Amino acid sequence: MNQDILFNHFDLSGDLTLSNRIVMAPMNRSMADDDLVPTDAMADYYARRADTGLIITESLMISPSAQGYPNTPAIFTPAQVAGWEKVVRKVHAKGGKIFAQIWHTGRVSHPIYLNGEKPLAPSAVALKGRVPRTDDLQYAVPREMTEAEIRQMIQDFAQAAANAREAGFDGVEVHAANGYLLDQFLHWDTNRRTDDWGGSAENMARILFEVLGAVKLEIPHVGLRVSPVGYLHLEHDDRDKAVSDYVLQRLNHYGLTYVHTGMFEDSEQEHLAGTVTQYIRSLYQGTVIACGGYDAERGREALHKGDADLIAIGRPLIANPDFVEKVRTRQPLTTYSAEMLNELV
Ligand SMILES: Cc1cc2nc3c(=O)[nH]c(=O)nc-3n(C[C@H](O)[C@H](O)[C@H](O)COP(=O)(O)O)c2cc1C
Repeated sequence: MNQDILFNHFDLSGDLTLSNRIVMAPMNRSMADDDLVPTDAMADYYARRADTGLIITESLMISPSAQGYPNTPAIFTPAQVAGWEKVVRKVHAKGGKIFAQIWHTGRVSHPIYLNGEKPLAPSAVALKGRVPRTDDLQYAVPREMTEAEIRQMIQDFAQAAANAREAGFDGVEVHAANGYLLDQFLHWDTNRRTDDWGGSAENMARILFEVLGAVKLEIPHVGLRVSPVGYLHLEHDDRDKAVSDYVLQRLNHYGLTYVHTGMFEDSEQEHLAGTVTQYIRSLYQGTVIACGGYDAERGREALHKGDADLIAIGRPLIANPDFVEKVRTRQPLTTYSAEMLNELV
């Protein structure tokens, strides 16, 4: 046992032990090449952070229709899988562990990324606002997915997991947070369906549980990222909380490797009487990763209180590739700034 709780080993599952409790949060850097293949610079970037207990990659697109931003990496072509194999090899060579985050943006997209096609979503409800990194494009009204498209999407998540296994990843994290496709199904404003995929908590969560079941058949270690009652890219509806209560309770029966808080700031929420991580912990009995505005001190506190088992760190790990060593030796950290996103260091 290390005296500093952040540096205790953690048994993520019988055959996967993490060397410390610090996890690299998924952060898309939009720096894949034009075939959406990870570059050598990206492999070096991840390898530099291999001393975190676990790296979760940036979100990887499961299919061409998943794109919503320029140059986000993907994992559906053989070249993309080969690219990720190189990344994984470098991280493993330095003793690290790495999960692939797999993702579909749904309506958080625009025809410019989709060969002129409309984005796919549970319902034809547009996200309000401007598409980032474009001149002045507004988000488009998406197209309601057909039953066949939903089935294909579940298959695409499963294939992405199989590709991640082929690339050598230690596991995958299904991205159901931050208002992207799976999260759109879980919210009343974005899911107005009246068929088997909407209209009740059970129906709204159906796609998520089908994805988890299909992914689990392809790769043994499956984590999940959720942002219950977080409202990035979403409009609030009072009925949403009952859906997230239902999801979190049912997750106890899915043998997941962990559940991970998908927040930018995991602060106290009045209607939850605590943080989102505490809310997840109150309903989900497995391993929990906290994330959102944590530093070493706040992370230790959350671990000591039992709010979480692991702490994911995002922006400070962009600013400090040597975050783990600096925390271990109690050196000061470089402060993150958004300009740092222009370069992979
Ligand atoms: C540049 C950037 C890219 C991000 N990309 C992703 C992503 O691909 N997937 C995801 O689930 N969250 C993403 N996030 C959210 C982070 O995982 C994390 O929740 C957030 O940064 C809060 O943690 P922090 O305060 O430690 O930075 C991103 C955040 C940043 C700053």
